[in-house]
Order: sequence, then C-alpha cells, then structure tokens
Amino acid sequence: MTVTFPTGFLWGAATAAYQVEGAAREDGRTPSIWDTFSRTPGRVLGGDTGDTATGHYHRREEDVRLMAELGLGAYRFSVSWPRVQPTGRGPASRGGLDFYRALVDDLLARGIQPMLTLYHWDLPQELEDAGGWPARETARRFADYALLVGEALGDRVGLWTTLNEPWCSAFLGYAAGVHAPGRTDDEAALRAAHHLNLAHGLGAQALRTVLPADARLSVALNPAAVRARTPAPGDLDAQRRVDALATRIFTEPMLRGAYPADLISDTEPITDWSFVRDGDTDIVKHPLDALGINYYAPTVVSAATDNRPDRSDGHGAGGRSPWPGAGRVAFHRPPGKRTAMDWAVDPTGLYDLLMRFTREAPGLPLIITENGAAYDDKPDADGAVHDPERIAYLHAHLDAVLRALGDGADVRGYFLWSLLDNFEWAYGYSKRFGAVYVDYATLARTPKSSARWYARVARTGRLTP
Ligand code: NOJ
Repeated sequence: MTVTFPTGFLWGAATAAYQVEGAAREDGRTPSIWDTFSRTPGRVLGGDTGDTATGHYHRREEDVRLMAELGLGAYRFSVSWPRVQPTGRGPASRGGLDFYRALVDDLLARGIQPMLTLYHWDLPQELEDAGGWPARETARRFADYALLVGEALGDRVGLWTTLNEPWCSAFLGYAAGVHAPGRTDDEAALRAAHHLNLAHGLGAQALRTVLPADARLSVALNPAAVRARTPAPGDLDAQRRVDALATRIFTEPMLRGAYPADLISDTEPITDWSFVRDGDTDIVKHPLDALGINYYAPTVVSAATDNRPDRSDGHGAGGRSPWPGAGRVAFHRPPGKRTAMDWAVDPTGLYDLLMRFTREAPGLPLIITENGAAYDDKPDADGAVHDPERIAYLHAHLDAVLRALGDGADVRGYFLWSLLDNFEWAYGYSKRFGAVYVDYATLARTPKSSARWYARVARTGRLTP
C-alpha cells in the first residue's frame, strides 16, 4: 500500500473562535450564546468560560509563527460573529474585522492557506433572544453576516466554510440542551436544523456574489459513522433512524435538494415540517466545491429493549436525547481503546465515511476538516509533553485516509483538531485536543511530541512509523 499522500495535499490544523480567542469583551464584541451559557453556573464543567481561553486574540503573531514552525500548509479558523457584527445585524465592527484581516495577512505572509469558517457555534446572544436558530429570520441574518465577511476578506481567503457541525448546533443546543443555548425542545431542534440548512444555502449564495470565481465553498459536517450492533432488523432500523437524524438531514437537502422521506415520517409525532417553505431546499442545494468531514469516533446502536431514555452517546447528553424522533435507540460503547473523551479509537469509521461520500457525491472533493483526540497530557519534569497515544491515533487515521485515497476517494486535505489545547465546550479546559500544549496559568505554548511528528508528515507527505 502506498504511504505517500498526493502532491498538493493540504496539511492543516484547526481551531474555532470561541475556543481559542478569549478577549470576550474587547473591541465592541458582544456576548454570544456560548458566553451566556458558560457564565451560567452548572452548564460547563468547572465553571470554565471562553473569557480568556488560550489568549489567541493577543497572541496571533506567536501562534502563526508556531504554525509555520510546524510546517502547516493551511489553517482552519472561525470568525466570531459577535466580534465582527456585534448585534447580529447592521454594519461590521471595524476592530473585529481588523483582527481577521491581520490574521489572514500573517498566514499568507508565511505561505499558510487560510480556511475560514463563518459559524462555529457562537451565535450573537441578541439573535438567540429574537428566537435563535428555530427562527427563520436567523438564516437571513446569517446571509447578511456572510456577505459582510465575504466583502472584507474575499480578496485573500480562498477556502470558505459556511457552518461547522450544524448537528451539534441544532440537537446538542436545542434538544439535549448540553450546548448553548441549552434549550430542550425537540420541535425547536428540528426547526433549527432546517434553518441552519437554509442559512448554509443563503450564506453560500451571498458569498458567491462577492467572492472571486476561484474561491472554494464548503460546509463542515460531522456525519455519523453509525453501525448496528447486530444485523437484526430492529438494530438495522435503529441505525437507519440515527443516520437520518445525524447525517442525511443535512446531506440530502445540501446535495440533492430534499429531506429524506423516512426522516419526515420518523419525526411526524414531533413536527409536520411546515417550517420548510416552497423553494427552501433548492436554496440549500447550492453547489459546493468541497465537502468537509469532521470525524472522531464511530457510533454503535441497537434497538432499545426497554423504556429507559436513550443512554449518553458520548456527547455529554446524559439523560436527554439529542435524537428527537429516533425512537427507542440504545447507544453502545464499542470495545477497545478510548480517548480521554471516552470515545472509541476506530479509524475504519473515517474510511467508511470517505468511501460513502465518494459514492454518494461523486465528483465532490472531500476535506477532513477535523480529526484528532483528547488525552490527559502533562509536561514532564523537563517541561516536555510526550503524547504517544495521540501520535498513534493520528497515524491510524491518516492510514485510513491513505487507504481511502487508494480506493478512489478524492481527499484534498486533512486538518488536525486542534492546533492548541482549548475550551472544549461543555467540558471546559478539562479536555486537551491540542498538538500544542497550553499552560492555562501562563498561556505559554509547548509543542507536544505529536506536533513534531505531524510536522514531519506534513513536510514529507509520507506516513512513516
Ligand atoms: C467538533 C467541534 O467542531 C470542535 O469545536 C470540538 O472541539 C471537537 N469536535 C472535539 O469535540
């Protein structure tokens, strides 16, 4: 089997605004739903907030230098909506946009391609107060915001992503309530999913009016590599139902312009889908130049055999299900190695997803927009951070990418999650995903051994033991 990645393959690392920037109250930035949520006692482990995070907003130059040292060819970051358009409507905040202009200029000066995500979960609080994603108006607000960022940065950013993991925004945010805004309303979650799809389509349309013709448009999804525990018909049906709610609810309208019939009938007890208006799904099906796939671990399901609520599926959902309409589904912990998130280490899930979209979206280039693992990293007596488990995880997943490339998948790039340890949402700073260690007392950065290992892979384009 080949161990060499194609020439031009993009080697990157990813972050998101709320997870790394800090400077939550600077330059006119207003609160996002994650500021409100994390400042609410009991919502985030340890009461952690993104107020300071990794301090990236003030360490931009140091961080870009670090990326260059690690030999990155690309950097995926997100723009904080309340930083550039503080109330979610109206004109841009100059200070906010200047930060991203400077970031992009620093990246370009070092030959690092910027990949910009417009929405990585930090909705301006004012828009949540006006109804949030369950309200149709939020999709229109998003299109205006997309236009404003497109106008400001379109001349220097070549790779654009509308939304990051809309499944989490809709279902962890509005059904399970473990992510901001913390609502637990199943019908609202399904509405949110549709309005996120609509926002993607309207945002893509808006971007196209201002971006140069060679700019590439994408969306970053977290399709589930969902497996039935046994081939029994009940388990296969549980797999189908979860697949509809996790993946096809986004991919079918985006790629084919229609919601899956089984999804509509499964969710009938919750909603009649009348919030989908004529013409909406044509908007959602805006042509894409790449599909971003975020992958961490597979999901194993079976039909539930009793009436207990669904078990946690590794998203910290606890007793409340993030799967409205899935019916009685049990989630299982597959045997084998696990990360600090308690997620299974299984690269075959990544291979399967790459091959699935190779079949289902022929001709559409794929980018792995996130992949990585949290471990309990600690500096040793000399201050060095050795993370052999992360190296093993990355190696195994890159090996799966090579296998998919060999089998015909058109994979254009890989973004390690994450460049830095950062604010891991409901888990606060307790989970470390970074290739670079962050000491939260001093904000000092120390590349872990995985960072050096990844730099070598990026430089040589080869996966060697
Ligand atoms: C997906 C999200 O996009 C990112 O923000 C998060 O930190 C990682 N997964 C790890 O959970």
